[in-house]
Amino acid sequence: MSDFIEFPRIKRLPNYVFAVVNELKAKLRKEGRDIIDFGMGNPDLKPASHIIEKLCEVARKKHTHRYSMSEGIPRLRKAITNFYKERFGVELDPDKEAILTIGSKEGLSHLMLAMLSPGDIALVPSPRYPIHYYAPVIAGASVLTVPLPIEGSDSEKQEQFLRNIYETYEDSYPEPKVLILNFPNNPTTMTVDLEFFKEIVKFAKKKNLWIIHDFAYADLCFDGYKAPSILQVEGAKDIAVETYSLTKGFSMAGWRVGFVLGNPILIHNLRRLKSYLDYGMFTPIQVASIIALEGDYSVVEKAKDTYSERLDILVNGLNRAGWKVEKPKATMFLWAKIPEQFQKLGSIEFSKLLLTEAEVAVAPGVGFGEHGEGYVRFAVVENKKRIRQAIRNIKKFFKKYSGK
Ligand SMILES: Cc1ncc(COP(=O)(O)O)c(C=O)c1O
Repeated sequence: MSDFIEFPRIKRLPNYVFAVVNELKAKLRKEGRDIIDFGMGNPDLKPASHIIEKLCEVARKKHTHRYSMSEGIPRLRKAITNFYKERFGVELDPDKEAILTIGSKEGLSHLMLAMLSPGDIALVPSPRYPIHYYAPVIAGASVLTVPLPIEGSDSEKQEQFLRNIYETYEDSYPEPKVLILNFPNNPTTMTVDLEFFKEIVKFAKKKNLWIIHDFAYADLCFDGYKAPSILQVEGAKDIAVETYSLTKGFSMAGWRVGFVLGNPILIHNLRRLKSYLDYGMFTPIQVASIIALEGDYSVVEKAKDTYSERLDILVNGLNRAGWKVEKPKATMFLWAKIPEQFQKLGSIEFSKLLLTEAEVAVAPGVGFGEHGEGYVRFAVVENKKRIRQAIRNIKKFFKKYSGK
């Protein structure tokens, strides 16, 4: 049998576009070059020490090594619903309206598998975080792309995006079953206000359309901005769930702690599927996550301030180097339009050039969908000193290419 046989479901999963740039990055590193890596949104910060201490303490106990509960232990579900009440004023039933997932990516993916069948249609923005597109694909559903506006003021973008959703919905047959949203957005950093969520909830209720809102960057908001939860809209729970994660704000990426919160029907279906697939997360991680959610929120604010400061340095430095960019209101990313003189290269070739010439790795915009072409994404997961070095490298690279 060929080693390279690919089954139909796998055939629908192309190689990540990012692989091209990642391979070049690995090759250059092998040659001994010091690559400053803004490519992947993989947090480099360490969780607060009291959370790590709790993990170790519980792991030393005799009875904490057995299978746990796939839906999450009741105290953790209570902790996340209390957290939502305190931070967003949202009331949730910890038994029916909250489930623990192995990171929010697993939660969203398995929810798609629970909900969707071949013939179903999912509405997914472009650009988007790749799994938003591929989770419905893995479930065998069809995907219709909704362009996410990139240029314009916040309110113009929100209004245009709503129009794009309505149009794509109306043009679709059969009617789409689910809409995936993500604000603050990865990769574009677009944010929305509560009014936007009110409008989309009203539309979704009228059309019996489910909404999945990915709220991975809930805690990484800067300079006075506070991102709304879709569950703050009255009645949103009738048609929506939100995914929340300890990955970004709590710097616990590798721990894989996420939640799906809101509509009890969707959560019931996800719970049933997960009860077949997993035995729950390691109990010490669940207990330490309770400590994280119930502990001092300043640990999250510290992480947020670190990303904000790094973005300030990156944005100011790039502007000084002649690359016109604006600081985002949220996330850990800078979504930057490729400078005019390099536009014709496209985002993959430009990313490769930046890597070879400036030793700076970024994610090519087209990797997030066709509407991301012309842009690159920086993830500020390098420290301040290395960001300053990256700026110096980029300046030199621009100088070399000016007039070419
Ligand atoms: C929009 C978005 N959703 C989800 C995730 C993954 O989160 P988790 O670690 O909770 O699976 C990421 C990580 O980069 C993300 O950008």
